[in-house]
Amino acid sequence: MERTLILFKPDCVQRRLVGRILSRFEDKGLNVVAMKLMHITPDLAKQHYAEHVQKGWYPTLEAFITGGPVVAAVLEGLEVIRVVREMLGATSGLKAAAGTIRGDFSSSRQMNLVHASDGPEAAAREIGLYFKKEEIVEHTLTITPWLRAGDEA
Ligand code: CDP
Ligand code: MG
Repeated sequence: MERTLILFKPDCVQRRLVGRILSRFEDKGLNVVAMKLMHITPDLAKQHYAEHVQKGWYPTLEAFITGGPVVAAVLEGLEVIRVVREMLGATSGLKAAAGTIRGDFSSSRQMNLVHASDGPEAAAREIGLYFKKEEIVEHTLTITPWLRAGDEA
């Protein structure tokens, strides 16, 4: 079982799309094991986007991601890191395929609504940036036997 860190970015919160997009993850059968509303500080933004800090467009990204509250969450499921990245679609909403979250809701390269970890190392690092161990709520939903066969996990 894998876990991934997702952020409903400030554009998502401001546009009141958190509920609709969270529903897609719930509909897919993914399990929410942590969730909170918070502000991202400039310091946290630099840690989160360490790979992009040197880029010319980083200052505008930092202004965007710190510009309003986000909802941070940890999703759990089989192959969840890849599954969620595919549900998001390409980075730019202008390039993301129709049917993906960014393709359906975003017309921007920056304001693309949701972040998701891009691999196992990033997921572990990012979950640690946003959540303490005790904030992750381990549980198994009773519907689990109706989401996949017992030998799939
Ligand atoms: O989020 P994703 O991994 O798909 O894209 P990224 O290339 O790792 O970039 C991180 C985030 O920076 C994107 O999700 C955009 O919000 C933002 N970005 C930007 O503001 N300007 C760019 N030219 C590229 C990305
Ligand atoms: Mg990325």
